[in-house]
Amino acid sequence: MKQLNVSPLKNIIKITLSVPPDKSISHRAIIIGSIANGRTEIKNLLASEDCLNTLKIMQQLGVEISSYNNFETVTVYGKGLHSLIEPKNILNCGNSGTTIRLLCGLLSGQSFLSVLTGDDSLITRPMERVIEPLTLMGAKLFGREHNTKVPVVITPGILHGISYEMPISSAQVKSAIMLAGIQAKGETKIIEKEKSRDHTERMLSAFGAKIKSDKNEIIIGSEQSLEAQSLCIPGDISSAAFFIAACAIIPGSEMVLQKVSVNPTRAGIITVLKKMGVKIESTNKKEASGEPIADLFISSGDLTAAEVKGSNIPLLIDEIPILCIVMAQAKGKSIIKDARELRFKESDRIKTMVQVLRKLGIEVTELEDGLEIIGLGGEPFKIDHSIEWPRHFDHRIAMSIAIAALKANEPIQIPGAEWISTSFPNFEKLINQIQMAVV
Ligand code: S3P
Repeated sequence: MKQLNVSPLKNIIKITLSVPPDKSISHRAIIIGSIANGRTEIKNLLASEDCLNTLKIMQQLGVEISSYNNFETVTVYGKGLHSLIEPKNILNCGNSGTTIRLLCGLLSGQSFLSVLTGDDSLITRPMERVIEPLTLMGAKLFGREHNTKVPVVITPGILHGISYEMPISSAQVKSAIMLAGIQAKGETKIIEKEKSRDHTERMLSAFGAKIKSDKNEIIIGSEQSLEAQSLCIPGDISSAAFFIAACAIIPGSEMVLQKVSVNPTRAGIITVLKKMGVKIESTNKKEASGEPIADLFISSGDLTAAEVKGSNIPLLIDEIPILCIVMAQAKGKSIIKDARELRFKESDRIKTMVQVLRKLGIEVTELEDGLEIIGLGGEPFKIDHSIEWPRHFDHRIAMSIAIAALKANEPIQIPGAEWISTSFPNFEKLINQIQMAVV
């Protein structure tokens, strides 16, 4: 197991950083580019393990994809929705829920057999959430353990549109239905109780698909054809969140993060941190490939407790581990509720964060759908040597511990640091940059 050693910061941070490209948008750029007609050029693709798994799978499905300058520019030579070919082997999605769920939707409408699998974490994650609606559309897909788990086998089905009310808020499920919908006969309607990230809607529209999206309702037109585009992927707010948090918990710090995606369906972390006392200003606002981006200027302030729940949860679902670290530094009791979905991520992030926070010396209560955290009011984390680090966790938990280490009473050796490369390959480099840039 790889360890990352992070020492407490001795002084304040003053730095300008560029965060890695957005993971969700990168997956979609590869998949949608692969089924469009023509040459899609992608600048600034995230070359993390998860996205490279998506890329390799699209190549196994017969799509020609080339990359220059270590993925600075990736060219996808799409030949349309019906040009994919039967893969010769099982498609391995690794750790990536986005890859497997989106591909279930896409491959449901294809005329060949495919089998999708993943790593030890992915094979435990729920798949009925995509298998059920796709089956209602006429797809023929089957999963282990009575259609609930990976591996998933997909055989040719004839798809028709449906009207589907989402029982949970999930952009992966919504996107799977949309990628099946563009191949189906008749309109597909999706109704979300709480709006989840809308990158698939935005990107399909940019590629010329007929999609109407109004508040929480999306209508996808029948049997579509997509046209290639040039894309530039913005910085990932989920990766930026770790450094915003670092700035928030080290009083007197200031940071500029450049060209970050500030899509409102992803920017919940900015709203909550502002309420907690962090100063965040967005400047240079513009659009890149249908997504709003901005430079973020962050400065620390006195942190107060917060309550996060309901429809705000999907807007910051991936940022909850790092939000817990900020809450643990705030003054008072913070509460996160309605976040049961955290139990089905790359690890059970409620259980894991409870253990991490206890190890950091924090008083925390595990709720069925969240956590209650008593903040230290700015005191350093005091490592409890009688508690172990969790045995099973994931990239976002490892990075959250690394940020906490900047404000701990002693250096921390973070176990499981190899997971970080699923989403943030140069995380260690940026942490080192922060360590050097203190003034
Ligand atoms: C993602 C959607 C979210 C998120 C995941 C990426 C996506 O998952 O947690 O990291 O790219 O669509 P759910 O759809 O399960 O909420």
